[in-house]
Amino acid sequence: MGKLDGKIAVITGGASGIGRGMAELFASEGATVFVSDIQEAEGKALADSLEGSFCACDVSDPEAVEAMIQAAVDQYGRIDILVNNAGIEGEQGVTADSSLDNWRNVMSINIDGVYHGMKYVLPVMIAQKGGVILNTASTVGLNAMGSLPAYSASKAGVIHLSKSVAIENAMHNIRCNSICPSVVLTPLLERFIEETPDPASARAGFAALNPLPGMVTIDACAKAALFLVSDDSAFITGVALPIDGGFTAR
Ligand SMILES: NC(=O)c1ccc[n+]([C@@H]2O[C@H](COP(=O)([O-])OP(=O)(O)OC[C@H]3O[C@@H](n4cnc5c(N)ncnc54)[C@H](O)[C@@H]3O)[C@@H](O)[C@H]2O)c1
Repeated sequence: MGKLDGKIAVITGGASGIGRGMAELFASEGATVFVSDIQEAEGKALADSLEGSFCACDVSDPEAVEAMIQAAVDQYGRIDILVNNAGIEGEQGVTADSSLDNWRNVMSINIDGVYHGMKYVLPVMIAQKGGVILNTASTVGLNAMGSLPAYSASKAGVIHLSKSVAIENAMHNIRCNSICPSVVLTPLLERFIEETPDPASARAGFAALNPLPGMVTIDACAKAALFLVSDDSAFITGVALPIDGGFTAR
């Protein structure tokens, strides 16, 4: 018996990296996964392999998110789990030299996208008298990182927005939490490393960042996510869970 038997799970940014790991693990635990992403070929292939569904959706577009949530409801009649996971790192650079375009782009995906997902799924979950929301934040939302101002601010926003939604919707039997990974070797982190002045030393620095040896794995993120979306965490809401090998314990 799986921990998510019979559950319908929508995952944004589900075609790659951490979201993909969640989709695979949730499906192996009995969920029907509804993968959403801007990467259509990858998302569709994954959804097919997991016997789920795919919906192309740019989370920065409120109408697209509303339509994506409606498509999942039309297909399955309910949404038990929503993971707002889509995110980008944006451009590196100190605030004084950063561009407003980058600020707005990062915010439109990382925080507006999470807001859109919750705004449109909450009426569905309230009507069905329950549900679970999980948002992918970052340790950077707990301990800010220099040279990544928009990303840091967006992830801090995700943590606080998640707490607000947790408080507002507890009475509706809806839980809302966030996860805060530190460094996970995904296409996002690979891009980030390659754009630093010295990728080899950036890679070594990230590998030595956490007190526990090595970088966080996609598997570790997916397992923490599984805990927070399953009944194993039935009385846990409003938390921002670091998955960081002790990085934020310092
Ligand atoms: N990799 C890390 O070290 C790390 C650490 C902490 C938090 N995170 C967060 O984890 C989440 C997943 O990142 P990842 O590392 O797996 O990266 P990734 O690039 O492998 O996956 C991100 C996915 O989001 C999708 N996406 C990007 N913009 C989108 C948009 N506008 N609409 C819909 N989908 C969009 C991408 O196509 C991709 O499939 C992000 O929110 C990221 O900020 C990553």
